[in-house]
Amino acid sequence: MAENNTIPARYAVMGNPVAHSKSPRIHQMFAHQFGHHIEYISILVDVDAFPQAVERFRAEGGRGLNITVPFKLDAFTMADRLSDRARLAGAVNTLMFEPDNKVFGDNTDGTGLVHDIEINLGIHLRGKQILILGAGGAVRGVLGPILKHHPAKVMIANRTVSKARELVGQFREHGPVESCGYPELKGKHFDIVINGTSASLKGEVPPLPETLFTRGALAYDMMYGDKPTAFLDWAMLHGANQAADGLGMLVEQAAESYFLWHGVRPDTRHVIAALRKNG
Ligand code: ATR
Repeated sequence: MAENNTIPARYAVMGNPVAHSKSPRIHQMFAHQFGHHIEYISILVDVDAFPQAVERFRAEGGRGLNITVPFKLDAFTMADRLSDRARLAGAVNTLMFEPDNKVFGDNTDGTGLVHDIEINLGIHLRGKQILILGAGGAVRGVLGPILKHHPAKVMIANRTVSKARELVGQFREHGPVESCGYPELKGKHFDIVINGTSASLKGEVPPLPETLFTRGALAYDMMYGDKPTAFLDWAMLHGANQAADGLGMLVEQAAESYFLWHGVRPDTRHVIAALRKNG
């Protein structure tokens, strides 16, 4: 592979905003593990200029892209070929430019989340009662890989119940999935509760009953920040045994992208630890 040549292979993350993305640091830490010589930059793209930005990057010799908010649907549309998990997610977070000039689109978010919960946190999804909060793009992106791990049930709760119902319609054939509104959660208990709403961005918590968690339950927020999110604070006050933010998911989805581009999967634990330590 060209990673060891003197001209570095070029990769980037595109988003808006993108300045605070940790992806360049993560990918450089991965590359260091293998002695790969890569360039990985962040590119701020105008909201209406995504296809042009991708074409320019490819024309300049780019090999692959990570795609973040708000372009994951645009990337899905642009891809000539899609992985099964990207098709199911309806969104693409990883693009790879292939030798025949075709663009391959993948989605590593769900696999990243599952890897973080199963491998890093050591909690198996098989047989578990799982509650997912939210029914937007972030949730749609992870449902397929979660259902693949044979949970007993996945309940999707959303403020706008019709959106949760729509997701159930799309994913029903992939596993035991149900929908409800927040009031219907009263009296129900879950082993794993994953917050996929954007409420944490505003420091808000969806209206949840206080007896939501089973003994030993995991509360997981797909968001992360310098401090625990409002949801994780709430969860630890209301009986969750363990709280995890989405930093591990971020690093794991990056590792899956790295594997797609370079054919090797980096060690993630040290990278997660380094990011926790140094921000
Ligand atoms: P994303 O791509 O990040 O999933 P999205 O598609 O806009 O973004 O979805 C945001 C999700 O967060 C939705 O499920 C939204 O609920 P609605 O569908 O009812 O709008 C949820 N959400 C955002 N703010 C919330 C809040 N304060 N309380 C509860 N849910 C919230």
